[in-house]
Amino acid sequence: MRLFGITAALALGLAQTASAACNETILRLATDRYIAAQSTGSLQWISEILSDNITYVENGKFLGIASSALVESLRIDRSHSIFDLVQCASFTDLIVTNPASPRVVGAQLWVAGDKVTKIDRIVTTTGDWLFNATGTLHYALREDWGVIPPAQRDSRAVIKAAADAYLDVFKSANVSVPWGTPCARLEGGAYTGKGLPSDSCNLGVIQSYDMPNRRYVIDETVGVASLLLEFGSIGNAPDSHQFRIEGGKLRFIHTMTYCEKKPNCGYTSGPFAPP
Ligand SMILES: *[C@@H]1O[C@H](CO)[C@@H](O)[C@H](O)[C@H]1NC(C)=O
Ligand SMILES: *[C@@H]1O[C@H](CO)[C@@H](O)[C@H](O)[C@H]1NC(C)=O
Ligand SMILES: *[C@@H]1O[C@H](CO)[C@@H](O)[C@H](O)[C@H]1NC(C)=O
Ligand SMILES: *[C@@H]1O[C@H](CO)[C@@H](O)[C@H](O)[C@H]1NC(C)=O
Repeated sequence: MRLFGITAALALGLAQTASAACNETILRLATDRYIAAQSTGSLQWISEILSDNITYVENGKFLGIASSALVESLRIDRSHSIFDLVQCASFTDLIVTNPASPRVVGAQLWVAGDKVTKIDRIVTTTGDWLFNATGTLHYALREDWGVIPPAQRDSRAVIKAAADAYLDVFKSANVSVPWGTPCARLEGGAYTGKGLPSDSCNLGVIQSYDMPNRRYVIDETVGVASLLLEFGSIGNAPDSHQFRIEGGKLRFIHTMTYCEKKPNCGYTSGPFAPP
């Protein structure tokens, strides 16, 4: 009886237990350390909080962290992070416009207790999909991804569903997507927004492909979902999609797509070529 009581209490309290188990201070400090490590190119700033058996994934490949792009010092012009206290994970995007080493990097950091157990990253540079770090910085700085007042927040389920619907439309045109108006897509460094109230993200996608292997980090305080995935439409290229959702509808979409066989994953002419 006693045992049953405890089990029932655990089951009922599951969501709360999950979030209580995540220490936000530790998650934020781990994210700060990740940024410091990338900025200096030195693992000393993060090594003490890495789990002994950390999983490190870069552009879809499992690597040893010491031989990863994390040991390259980058002059970071802008960083932006979201925090998922249910899963104890963060997503950070870094923009580096330095012409000597331009980069746009997206990383999901997974924390358990006081250790980072997994870092899953997309690292893009010249030759990757529509890559333009200056363009990314220029447009990202103009957008408002700020905190949404509690009463207006969407649930995690609504945020996830909007993100999934957008990716599902690559497979099937008849998927119902909660398009917001205005909405803008920032892809590589190319921007669809014109600053008009009528700006739309419903501008067509390369069909008809699955977008598999989706890994989610969701922060409902800012209405954002980060998805790392395989971009089916361009040869399952390692990809990051970050969605800002307001009132259940898509407002901003940022993408990074790694082209192993640069330039631009082979799209050098036609509608998907860089400007
Ligand atoms: C979170 O971690 C910090 C730093 O270790 C600690 O001081 C704090 O007590 C922890 N918070 C909770 C709620 O456990
Ligand atoms: C190693 O990683 C696995 C899976 O991420 C985890 O379940 C396990 O607890 C870890 N072991 C140690 C010693 O950290
Ligand atoms: C990159 O973006 C910047 C800022 O929008 C723009 O001035 C520049 O022309 C772009 N470069 C290329 C190669 O498209
Ligand atoms: C949506 O399109 C798919 C094929 O792409 C089709 O199999 C399916 O029946 C369609 N669903 C609806 C509701 O029209």
